[in-house]
Amino acid sequence: MDIAVIGCGYVGLVSGVCLASLGHKVIAVDVDEARVKSLREGIVPIYEPGLSEMIKNEVANGRLSFDTDSVRAARESSTIFLAVGTPPAKGGGYDLTYLYTAAEQAAKNANGPKTLVIKSTVNPGTGSKLAKLVAKASTHRIEVVNNPEFLREGTAIQDFMQPDRIVFGAASAEGIATLREIYQPLIDKGFAIFSMSRESAEMTKFAANAMLAMRISFMNELSQLAQTIGADIESVRVGIGTDARIGPGFLKAGVGYGGSCFPKDVQALVHQMKTIGVEPLLLSGIEQVNFRQKMTYAKNILDALKGIENPAVALWGLAFKSDTDDVREAPAFDIIRALLEGGATIKAYDPQAMENIKKVVGNKITYAKGVADATAGADAIAVITDWPEFITQDWGKIAKLMKGKHVFDGRNCLASGKVSAAGLHYHAIGRPELKPGEGRPGSMGIVSAG
Ligand code: NAD
Ligand code: UGA
Repeated sequence: MDIAVIGCGYVGLVSGVCLASLGHKVIAVDVDEARVKSLREGIVPIYEPGLSEMIKNEVANGRLSFDTDSVRAARESSTIFLAVGTPPAKGGGYDLTYLYTAAEQAAKNANGPKTLVIKSTVNPGTGSKLAKLVAKASTHRIEVVNNPEFLREGTAIQDFMQPDRIVFGAASAEGIATLREIYQPLIDKGFAIFSMSRESAEMTKFAANAMLAMRISFMNELSQLAQTIGADIESVRVGIGTDARIGPGFLKAGVGYGGSCFPKDVQALVHQMKTIGVEPLLLSGIEQVNFRQKMTYAKNILDALKGIENPAVALWGLAFKSDTDDVREAPAFDIIRALLEGGATIKAYDPQAMENIKKVVGNKITYAKGVADATAGADAIAVITDWPEFITQDWGKIAKLMKGKHVFDGRNCLASGKVSAAGLHYHAIGRPELKPGEGRPGSMGIVSAG
């Protein structure tokens, strides 16, 4: 099938290249000329494991190309995926300007019947509004369907090519048939497909993100109790996660969730509930807990460093999670702000996200060349992102580089015993702290990384 993908961001690039690898001819379009130019030169503007290689292959075999001309792409394609951003709107909910603009343009220039596939995350009801809008803009039949994207940054290609499920939302049998045709190679491999109404598909995406964010906030809230009473939230995680009704995923306590989606999608859901006159008691708490978690982490660091003038904090990790250079809504921002307000100085390092964070934080902090550079002379280390290279550090060497002794493991990802054996004071999230030289009594041998 000839497919246009509008938007060459995380979702557009991953969907575009994966659809090409399923055998479709894909034109990926972006309004950002510099982005398209660099993609044509083989430079992928985002860091996502495996993406560059896959794009190179699909471009070489002629199934994938990049363009700024959305009119041509839409005319040459029977199906148009909309993968543009849906950022938070000022008054709450989503700003759907990019989505409506792209859809209207595709409809106005349609040279025959088209299917518009909404890949962007939208609030329930958007597809119906969009269907009315494009019906007015074109004399041709424009089918609007929803195909929510569940990929995670860092494992995006695997999530697209080996999905837990694929959701089709449509208002007609024709819409479902088009989506089936597109995904037939994955259907043939046995991946689960669920067809439903457009509203249900839109809401499924909303509900999935809110549920995942809620699980994290649930564990983060409990981590504060664990910390106080001397329980270990990592033991609790394993203890409840092995219950088949609960499941193990997304129960990891930490510094709070970030990323371009959980914060904005939870906020948009809260907003939509309010617009229907229902106070979202549970949903409102998800973001509040998340913010408090970041503040508690920063406060714990400042409390431990009390008495030191302008304490030096080595900040390990800036991206909102490992395996990405994405810093959108990264917990690092609020933590940096709180530490600076508390009088700390910060030297930071991230394997992929340095350039992106510099654009926002500028010269308020110092940027290091690597872990050792960030750590030299530090009073404390704050681990914000669980990059593998942080987990495998030689703690004997790290201890020698430091001036102070405090390590704040914001992701419960370090081998606590190794940190304390190196003479350092290990602080975690919802786990008993370990003083220098202390072991962890009653360890269940839990693998806490990941
Ligand atoms: P992004 O900001 O990385 O990319 C969006 C791209 O669309 C930008 O490059 C922008 O220049 C381009 N664009 C905007 N208007 C355009 C137009 N009219 N024509 C062509 N290009 C245009 O966004 P993203 O992270 O890829 O997210 C896209 C959507 O997918 C959002 O709704 C998001 O909530 C959803 N989503 C994101 C993820 C994720 O992991 N990032 C996962 C699932 C769903
Ligand atoms: C998330 C969802 O997992 C995807 O299914 C969804 O498609 C996507 O949002 C989206 O709609 O954009 P993503 O934001 O890429 O994916 O990353 P996640 O792996 O979900 O992590 C989000 C945040 O939660 C990160 O800051 C991560 O560190 C944090 N997290 C995750 C925890 O604090 N604890 C956990 O147990 C899991």
